[in-house]
Amino acid sequence: MCGIIGYQGERNPKEVIINGLKCLEYRGYDSAGIAILNDGKLKRVRAEGKLENLNKKIENIDFNGHLGIGHTRWATHGAPSEMNAHPHYVDGVSLVHNGIIENYMDLRDELLSCGAKITSETDSELVAHLVAREFQISKDLLKSVQKVLPRLEGAFSIVVASEDQPDRLVAFKNGPPLVIGQGDGETVVASDIQPIVAYTKKVFYLEDFEIAEVTREKVEIYNLKGEKIDRMPLEVSWSSEKAEKHGFPHFMLKEIFEQPAAVQRAIAEYLDIEKKEIQLGDLGFSDTFDQYIAKANKKNAIETDEILKNVERVFIVACGTSYYAGLVGEYLIEKWARVPVEVEFASEFRYRHPVLPKNSLFITISQSGETADTLAALRLANESDVTSLSICNVPGSTIDRESTGHIYMSAGVEVGVASTKAFTSTLALLNIFGLYLGKLKGEVDRDEEVRLVEGLIHLPSQMEQVLSYDKFFSQAAETLKNFKGFLYIGRGVNFPIALEGALKLKELAYMHAEGYAAGEMKHGPIALIDNRMAIVVVAPDDDLYEKTVSNLEEVRARGGQIISIGTEGNKKLKELSLHLLSLPKSEWSINAILSVVPVQLLAYYVANALGHDVDQPRNLAKSVTVE
Ligand code: G6P
Repeated sequence: MCGIIGYQGERNPKEVIINGLKCLEYRGYDSAGIAILNDGKLKRVRAEGKLENLNKKIENIDFNGHLGIGHTRWATHGAPSEMNAHPHYVDGVSLVHNGIIENYMDLRDELLSCGAKITSETDSELVAHLVAREFQISKDLLKSVQKVLPRLEGAFSIVVASEDQPDRLVAFKNGPPLVIGQGDGETVVASDIQPIVAYTKKVFYLEDFEIAEVTREKVEIYNLKGEKIDRMPLEVSWSSEKAEKHGFPHFMLKEIFEQPAAVQRAIAEYLDIEKKEIQLGDLGFSDTFDQYIAKANKKNAIETDEILKNVERVFIVACGTSYYAGLVGEYLIEKWARVPVEVEFASEFRYRHPVLPKNSLFITISQSGETADTLAALRLANESDVTSLSICNVPGSTIDRESTGHIYMSAGVEVGVASTKAFTSTLALLNIFGLYLGKLKGEVDRDEEVRLVEGLIHLPSQMEQVLSYDKFFSQAAETLKNFKGFLYIGRGVNFPIALEGALKLKELAYMHAEGYAAGEMKHGPIALIDNRMAIVVVAPDDDLYEKTVSNLEEVRARGGQIISIGTEGNKKLKELSLHLLSLPKSEWSINAILSVVPVQLLAYYVANALGHDVDQPRNLAKSVTVE
């Protein structure tokens, strides 16, 4: 993972780089560092731990140069420590790296046998040594990097600076993303677009195996053979969003509270509120990504409809929370469109020689749009005769660019490592997509469409109501944190919500939590139940409600402490539960979205009560760009 950035231009590089690293901290946060020109030397400052530690160290340091690089790390090779933090520096060459150099052991042995002084345990430092050695010979940074690249195995991206050519940076990408922004007399290279759009909207997305030589004035891109690639910058319309807490103690809590607005934004694009109708519009299936985003009016809706009408199978592939969103999608699409859906972890899908029949639609879901396993699965699918569609939160991310169709979560920047608003926005979009496909397939009639659209229109205000459980959990957390474990159960579309609830608690509170299909309890997990076990049941009113209640009787009989998420007025659930959190009455498909809010709040407050860093939980990163 890791976030990398480089800047050159008239602004203060320290500010640009630190602000950029703040945007990139979601990619890793175990150490950080910068190297900025000062009196002709690349002055390096690094710190173990979060970015704020580096910030404190450099607060009073001035740099008089106008070029620098920075890095925020998620350790792969070598423990998180200052010694292993980037940038690495060898004889006037400094480098930041994201990814893994697989043949690092051989390179290390070779360098040691030539007398190199290796000062860290990382694979990254070895690349700095190799480039520095080549630079002694060629005195040209681009040539040095070009010479070293064939020797490196693995998926990685780098940005390199040299004191002897202080007017340029050299960047290379194979795997982890790199974007280059070309401003007026300034350039920014970064792992994603957010640190760039504050300065320029003209960007180059580096493709795999491309090397760029970047000066203040121009960006020149080469392939591995050294041939120049002609490419115009892409003009993007996205603006920079400042990650601010707006008075909330954590980004995560702010993002939980932003959900009504995020969901509203996500669905507004596809709903005609007056007509109570869903219109998917042009998803861009027939355009390249550049053409698609350059289109002023996306008018090719007819073609989108034709493609979707012919879909005979749907595959949804994703990781983590996005995978659970996919599971919800399976229930919705199968129910409304009567098209078979298969949902799979991207990390499994890519290695099982999957069969993708013709007329399949391959959907990836990814908040970041950069998750390595999801991207690899998409690439595999793109090799066969299927149509791909991404649901991403980051426009222009690699998964978005490499998909033929595009739906955006529009959740806004999500900083908390544990995904919240991107999840609920995706669930709302899957409602829209499933219904629309159902309409096209003639399975959803006008009455059903109107009823379900009304449900979606009320969703944001109903989410506001559910957010009032904030108070309940802020107090209950003190008791909840003492349970030995949590079992989350649900049936039907609520089963994936139970899985997501358990994942949230694991991620944030580091407590044992399991999500289970309520009907499966008697086949094993029931043995876990005693009075120190909390059972969170997601059981709003729907066709399966009565069955879930029967499962709860079994839990209650064994002393389990039940926290229920149900629908208002539901007496039976109330009788069985220690606490009942009731949701406003809604459609079955909307209930699933409303139920997410209490499980998020529960995890947040329990983690908080345990004194954990909820925005940056241990060992995790928001975007996982390694396998
Ligand atoms: C990481 C994050 C999760 C996220 C998962 C998938 O594990 O910590 O919150 O759900 O990656 O990320 P994506 O960006 O592909 O949705």
